[in-house]
Amino acid sequence: MSTDPLQIAIDHFRNGRLTEADNAFNAVLLSNPDNIDALNIGGMTLFKLGRHDDAVKRLQQALGLNAKNPGVLMNLGMVQRDRGLIDAAEECFAAALDLDPENELISNTLDSLHRQPITGAPGALQGAHAPERQIYMSATVSLLSDRPSPLNILEIGSYMGASAITWAKALDKLYDGPGSLTCVDPWDGSGDAGYQADVRGALESETAYNVFRHNISTCPDAVPVLVQRGTSRDILPNLETASFDIVYVDGSHLSADVQYDLQEGDRLLADDGILCGDDLELQAHECDLAFARNNSETDFIADPKTGRKYHPGVTIAVFDFLGTVSAFSGFWAMRKMLEGYQPVDFQTASGIFPTHWPAEFVELAKQAVVRDGYLANIVD
Ligand SMILES: C[S@@+](CC[C@H](N)C(=O)[O-])C[C@H]1O[C@@H](n2cnc3c(N)ncnc32)[C@H](O)[C@@H]1O
Repeated sequence: MSTDPLQIAIDHFRNGRLTEADNAFNAVLLSNPDNIDALNIGGMTLFKLGRHDDAVKRLQQALGLNAKNPGVLMNLGMVQRDRGLIDAAEECFAAALDLDPENELISNTLDSLHRQPITGAPGALQGAHAPERQIYMSATVSLLSDRPSPLNILEIGSYMGASAITWAKALDKLYDGPGSLTCVDPWDGSGDAGYQADVRGALESETAYNVFRHNISTCPDAVPVLVQRGTSRDILPNLETASFDIVYVDGSHLSADVQYDLQEGDRLLADDGILCGDDLELQAHECDLAFARNNSETDFIADPKTGRKYHPGVTIAVFDFLGTVSAFSGFWAMRKMLEGYQPVDFQTASGIFPTHWPAEFVELAKQAVVRDGYLANIVD
């Protein structure tokens, strides 16, 4: 084992021990502030820790020592990309390619910059512990595949657009006709106050909005994405009654807000359409209901009955509005029928893989869907 402090720091980084790596790079830089490798890989450590602004500073320091280092330029480009600064990223990748024109990794990265969604920004993959939800969302579109066009989807809470791309791709692949997606979000942190610091920071700094804009630019051309910036209370009252076929509730997790979104969602949903949402890890009959009610204005907390972490505000609002619902790994959906909302099942439905997510998540999603057995099939 190496005793060289820089090598030790690099080993920590390579093995994913990011906090140890950060401490070790800091120690190296204390004694040698101009160590370009410590600045470069130390910068990428900060990036992986979600500290994007600090990462930029450190990589720029490295470039101050050698502005013609293609590796540092590539790294800075990756960080700028995940901050949603696509032009700055492009500049870095182009400069790196000028210095190393035969390098395929650089040319491929530059080439795909505008076509690939950004999924590495803080919290960009919401619900990453259950990526199969994306497949169930797409299956919801397939349940409405015979519905007259256009098929209009409303998404409340879009963040960086990972779910919006899922809806747009599902419309494109599983619905034969024109459709649209409307995304409502303030993208400024003024919604639910309970988000983790990295998500809050991304919302407050415009990173989330910039990444969202980039990500929806990668949606299929055939699907118009309409962007409505504001909370659901600002925007939904201005939308036409019964003008949507699917309403997806994934904004604030606090009970009063979710209740509002469900009530307005119901008004906006056409007959026979589907009201659905995210973050229903536990239903009322599965958790300690009294505890959930007492904590319904808390974002995320552990349920004393099961020990599982869940969103009590979602549990309570969904239960009070709809009772027990059909739910699939935290994604829930109900169909608006004359006799009231009815459960859906996916036994005749098709889903698609969320190929805009990194490959490891697509694989996990696939395994979960096969294990759950809710779906008729998955199409490519
Ligand atoms: C869980 S994230 C949405 C994740 C996104 N659907 C996805 O899967 O990629 C929640 C989003 O809801 C937004 N939000 C919070 N309160 C809201 C409200 N009252 N109305 C609309 N959006 C809200 C936040 O700004 C945040 O971007």
